[in-house]
Amino acid sequence: MEIQTITLMGGYGKNENKDIVESITLKMGNIISIVGPTGSGKTTLINDLELFANRNTPSNRKVLINDIIPPEEMLNDPSKNPIALITQHTNFLSDLPVNKFLKMHASIRKTGQAETVVKETLDFANKLTGEPIIESIRMTELSGGQTRALLIADAVIIGNSPIILLDEIENAGINRVMAMELLKKYKKIFVFVTHDPRIALFSDFRIVMGNGAIQKVIITEEEEKKIAEEIKEIDDLMLDFRKLIRAGENIREDVFRERLKKINSKH
Ligand SMILES: Nc1ncnc2c1ncn2[C@@H]1O[C@H](COP(=O)(O)OP(=O)(O)O)[C@@H](O)[C@H]1O
Ligand SMILES: [Mg+2]
Repeated sequence: MEIQTITLMGGYGKNENKDIVESITLKMGNIISIVGPTGSGKTTLINDLELFANRNTPSNRKVLINDIIPPEEMLNDPSKNPIALITQHTNFLSDLPVNKFLKMHASIRKTGQAETVVKETLDFANKLTGEPIIESIRMTELSGGQTRALLIADAVIIGNSPIILLDEIENAGINRVMAMELLKKYKKIFVFVTHDPRIALFSDFRIVMGNGAIQKVIITEEEEKKIAEEIKEIDDLMLDFRKLIRAGENIREDVFRERLKKINSKH
C-alpha cells in the first residue's frame, strides 16, 4: 500500500483536557515538529502514531492511514509497517557486526544490491554522527550517537520507511543540521519532537502540546520562513564557534564581528 497520508483523530490529554483539533492530516513530503514543555505529551503523541492508536490508548486518539483504519498486517508484519520511530532509547537487538547486520537486513528487504545499499547506509550514518562507525564492530558496541545514526540511516535507506518519527534526537549525539539536510532529499513524512528553532521553523507546521493535549497547530507562514533563513545562519555561526572551542582555539573579536556583519548585510 502506498502511503499518502496519516491522520490523527483527536482525543484527550491529562485531566480530560481535550485536543483542540478534531483531526490533523500529515501528507507525504510533510515535515512536522511537535513542541511543548517536558511532560506535555509529545512522546505520547508520537507513540499513538506508531501504535496506530484506535481509541485504545490513554489518549483515546485514533490513527488512519490513507483515510482508513490501517490493516492488521501493518502492525503485525514489520516489513509492512510504514512507521519507523527512533528515540534516545531505541536500540538494535543484535550483536552481529555492523556490516553483516546491514547486509542481512538489505537482503531481507530486497532494497537493491546489498553491498551498495550497505555502503550507502554507512555513509549516511557517518554524516549524522561525529564518531565514524567501523563496519566490523559489533552492533552492541556502538555508542549512543552511533546507534541512533545507524537506526535513522537503516530506516531511511534499507527499511525505506515512508513515515519517520524522531523523538528528541538532538540529545542523542546526532548532527541535527546534517540530519535535516540529508532527510530533505527523501520524500517521506517526517515528525520531529524538537525545540530546535531551526527544525521547527523549517517544518510545514508544528503541533504545540500542553497538559497531554494538542493546544495549537501553527502553520509556518512567510514571516517565520524568512526568519528561519536568518536563524540558520546564526545557528551555523554557533556551530562553527563550538568547533573552535572544542579544538582549543581562541575566539577573536574581529572574526566574530565580521561574521555578524555578513549575516546582517544579507537581510
Ligand atoms: N493524552 C494523554 N493521556 C493520558 N496521559 C498522558 C497523555 N499524554 C501524556 N500523558 C502522560 O503524561 C506524562 C508525560 O508525557 P510524555 O508524552 O512523556 O511528555 P513529553 O514527551 O512531552 O515529555 C506521561 O506519564 C504520560 O503517560
Ligand atoms: Mg518525551
